[in-house]
Amino acid sequence: MGDCLKYSIQCSKCRSEIELREWVWKHTECNGTLNIEFKGLENIRFSNILRKEYNDIRRYMELLPVKQEYVPKIPVGGTPLAKRHLGANVYFKMDYLNPSGSFKDRGAYITLAKVKELGCQEIIEDSSGNAGIAFSLLARTAGIKANIYIPKKAPEGKKRFLKLLGANVVEVEGSREDVNKEALKAERKGKGVYVGHWWNPFFIEGLKTIAYELWEQLGEKIDYIFTPVGSGGLFLGIFKGFLELKNMGAIPTIPKLVAVQAQGYCSLCEKLGLSYETKERSKLADGIMILKPPRLSEIINAIRETEGFCVVVSDKEIVLALKELINMGFIVEPTSATAYAAFKKSFSEKLVGESSNVVIVLTGSGLKVLDKLNSVIFRSNL
Ligand SMILES: Cc1ncc(COP(=O)(O)O)c(C=O)c1O
Ligand SMILES: [Zn+2]
Repeated sequence: MGDCLKYSIQCSKCRSEIELREWVWKHTECNGTLNIEFKGLENIRFSNILRKEYNDIRRYMELLPVKQEYVPKIPVGGTPLAKRHLGANVYFKMDYLNPSGSFKDRGAYITLAKVKELGCQEIIEDSSGNAGIAFSLLARTAGIKANIYIPKKAPEGKKRFLKLLGANVVEVEGSREDVNKEALKAERKGKGVYVGHWWNPFFIEGLKTIAYELWEQLGEKIDYIFTPVGSGGLFLGIFKGFLELKNMGAIPTIPKLVAVQAQGYCSLCEKLGLSYETKERSKLADGIMILKPPRLSEIINAIRETEGFCVVVSDKEIVLALKELINMGFIVEPTSATAYAAFKKSFSEKLVGESSNVVIVLTGSGLKVLDKLNSVIFRSNL
């Protein structure tokens, strides 16, 4: 079994190349975010390097910066697509069907393989819930100890799940940014390596496999991809996957990427000049309640390069979208419903036409937040 293709790690700010001797998650000299760049993609044919014996993330090992011997024991990825005619041709990517119930499993899988290869035994992660759950589940299978920092106000279902998985859970009072500060303090005290997905480039490498799967499932015909954006890892992962496919000559252009934010957490949309009438903050979209994502300028660049756009949705729109999704058979959480709400809005505003092929990424399972679904759907007076 061959190693993956050659790659380098680069700082997005000062462009230095980083040598990976021990775990890194940012460029310590300039605080820039790091990105992984595979070499010689123009000489590769994507379909020739697939490991066709696998129908999960291992199918793409040649393009993942880890050694297969270190990957967690439970496979992730390989999630289905469901087609519906909803004005346009809509394809729901059911990524909430991953082992821990969210797309975050892909990022945690690759990160943990790297952590293990580097000989680290203990990780620190800050999360709104799903990433923490993904790390906790996969760390268990890899024999690594997980310290998970989450907001005290995270949904009860997610907190219960984390405890069930045996993680050391630290609940932090305050915003998602306060949680991040506490996790970084723990790292400084030497309580493990910090793998926070706001920064960690290996996490994005796992997430890019969604693009590879979409290419295998739909080929060149995708016009738009709608995803919720919190830290933007999902968005940037999908962008990177398609960029690599383009560099390998598999597609002529990257689909238009549509970034979806929730009311009151829309720094990206504001940067792009979109004003939104209400300043009231969302109470439902707990996965994307991030005020200042560290990779903001990279997200803006991806929107511009793909001629995509940004949409802000309200809690009222989220509830309507969530009810419709459940009626269609998709048991997802409110954060996931933002992407469908944004599609509905864009379609009614004619930003997306009837003949378009649209992918909506369904990111997180509703089964972790049944209390929240119950109160939103049955008791909401929104
Ligand atoms: C269900 C769900 N969807 C979307 C997101 C946003 O992902 P990202 O932070 O990669 O933008 C999250 C993040 O926690 C999430 O939990
Ligand atoms: Zn730098």
